Amino acid sequence: MKVTVVGAGNVGATCADVLAYKEIANEVVLLDIKEGFAEGKALDIWQKSPIDLYDTRTVGVTNDYARTANSDVVVITSGLPRKPGMSRDDLISTNAGIVKSVTEQVIKYSPNCILIVVSNPLDVMTYCAHAVSKFPRERVIGMAGILDTARYRAFLAEALNCSPKDIQAMLMGGHGDTMVPLPRYTTVSGIPVTELISEEKLNAIIERTKVGGGELVKLMGTSAWYAPGSAAAQMVESIVRDQKRIFPACIQLDGEYGIKNCYLGAPVVLGKAGVEKILELKLNEKEKSDLEVSRGHVKEVMDALDKMNLM
Ligand code: LAC
Repeated sequence: MKVTVVGAGNVGATCADVLAYKEIANEVVLLDIKEGFAEGKALDIWQKSPIDLYDTRTVGVTNDYARTANSDVVVITSGLPRKPGMSRDDLISTNAGIVKSVTEQVIKYSPNCILIVVSNPLDVMTYCAHAVSKFPRERVIGMAGILDTARYRAFLAEALNCSPKDIQAMLMGGHGDTMVPLPRYTTVSGIPVTELISEEKLNAIIERTKVGGGELVKLMGTSAWYAPGSAAAQMVESIVRDQKRIFPACIQLDGEYGIKNCYLGAPVVLGKAGVEKILELKLNEKEKSDLEVSRGHVKEVMDALDKMNLM
């Protein structure tokens, strides 16, 4: 399997590293516009192979999309990251131009690939890549839900003093402050989380999760990369190994949850065809209204992008 990662910044390079050391693909191409940057990072990852014992061929290229030809999966991480005080939506015009041109180049050489979008604002950049590629929606998937549930699960593990491995959770909606963590679909080794933690503590964790990306931007002056890079690699793994794992991921909803033509996180089955199924949970009234708020927010940013006439 061949996987391309576009953007050799922090998130892209981390994703390529995880793809390599976990041997998720046998060939990883890392591409960047900055001369020599992807080559250097890919070479560093390759030089780690005798230490960590993997044989994934990792190659870096400067803007040479011909070298990405016939990729099975392409991860798009290009674009500016947030700076303190910025919302993800502030990145829209710059990153839409970048995602558009990257998508055009990628599909020219890999017309049958599955696209995983990581650039922000995530849901709207997934819309952009879908509109530009004209791929079926199953093959244009945004990475946010795995990252957001990972933060939620990590916070829960800390509060419960248990292993994060034992925490399962689902979350829906946009990748922003309106995301909808779902405590009714959160368990600790099968035990409903509400039996183990007070409502007050759980709500505080949910609120912290919603601004989890912003917490890191404040600390570091730029956005996160370890968890985002690993999350994207986990999606690639489920696809290339046809694992059919169930993850929250961003996809164009077309009637599911009563929502049409909006890009939102929902539980999906990821396999060799991309999104093989969208699962429809039986949401209660509160969850439905929270999802509607998130839909409204994402739709506003989609409309703002439409008005820019970039696509
Ligand atoms: C975050 C950025 C990558 O949530 O959106 O950390």
